Amino acid sequence: MSSHQEDLRQRIRQAIAGQPQPTVTILSSLLAVQDALGWLPAEAIEEVATRTGATINDVWAVASFYTNFRFSPPGPHTVEVCWGPTCHLLGAQAILQAVQEAVGLPGEGDTPDGRYSLKLNTCLGACAQAPALALGHRIYGRMTPETARRLVEGVNQGEAS
Ligand code: FES
Repeated sequence: MSSHQEDLRQRIRQAIAGQPQPTVTILSSLLAVQDALGWLPAEAIEEVATRTGATINDVWAVASFYTNFRFSPPGPHTVEVCWGPTCHLLGAQAILQAVQEAVGLPGEGDTPDGRYSLKLNTCLGACAQAPALALGHRIYGRMTPETARRLVEGVNQGEAS
């Protein structure tokens, strides 16, 4: 096993072991790994099966049921546009449109060049600053279509993090 694979396994095991709740389930473990890595490699399915005593098929069944799990690495810039009720009322539709134009995607997914991953979020937990979007792990509030566009385009030019 290469050091990269061993490192990946280690991160997966730490994510699974680090769950705060006393009851560890297949779903909670998959969520923990996706939170840590941003996606679920095949190794994650194996490690979750080992940890929970389930079969690989059982884990795949849970993982493939939920559309929020991804099975390939996200682009270096993940943009999540909040689609929750508050953001919706305060202009999320226009924010989404501006972001889609900026990255050149008609909807959720990865850009062909692999630079951006775009997804919708049901609530980023920043309703007081709606409309909001997240770029990587950072949340930006009170977006306008123009500030959203500049933010998303800027990150690819190293102007934002
Ligand atoms: S609805 Fe958008 S942050 Fe809560």
